[in-house]
Amino acid sequence: GRLVVLVSGTGSNLAALLAAHDDPAFGARVVGVVADRPDIRALDLARDAGVPTAVVRLGDFPDRAAWDRALTEAVGVFSPDLVVAAGFMKLVGAAFLARFGGRVINTHPALLPSFPGAHGVRDALAYGVRVSGCSVIVVDEGVDSGPIVGQEAVPVLPDDDEESLHERIKVVERTLLVDVVGRIARDGLTVEGRHARLGRARA
Ligand code: GRF
Repeated sequence: GRLVVLVSGTGSNLAALLAAHDDPAFGARVVGVVADRPDIRALDLARDAGVPTAVVRLGDFPDRAAWDRALTEAVGVFSPDLVVAAGFMKLVGAAFLARFGGRVINTHPALLPSFPGAHGVRDALAYGVRVSGCSVIVVDEGVDSGPIVGQEAVPVLPDDDEESLHERIKVVERTLLVDVVGRIARDGLTVEGRHARLGRARA
């Protein structure tokens, strides 16, 4: 399977995928990395691994729809079987979903449907939950609202701040993401209404 990874930041999830893909049994390879900003560690990781990169900045386009079309093109160049948003801090739009819908997954640092959005870790802490975690979902047109593919819980400890909780979450998040991506690569992913399941659609 051909993977394209969308990134905006440090790329720890990308690093985990790059570490996994050399094993042929994994069933997938990162063939391209696309970012919404330059000068991020995730792009350095891709270049160091010899993976081609592209940067598509919102500010370079007249509006969001034009940016989304350019993002769609940039990802399409790599002919992905699966697109993985791994710390990608922008919402993809209609053109992107028309082309890749059902084949785009996202990782989120909270137990959805609680605490969607850009500040899931902070919001969970502020609420006072004792357990949080991470979710891998299929991307739909909403904000972190798509069908859940996998989840993993972590405890919230009394002295946690946003950084310490996020670090604890990220340790399990990368393992979950690699596991889910490998299973999708090997078995396929079928979305039926609100539900995602591993395995190919039966005709
Ligand atoms: C992850 O926790 C992701 O879920 C969140 O931001 C973090 C990205 O980390 N939205 P990285 O860029 O993969 O290191």
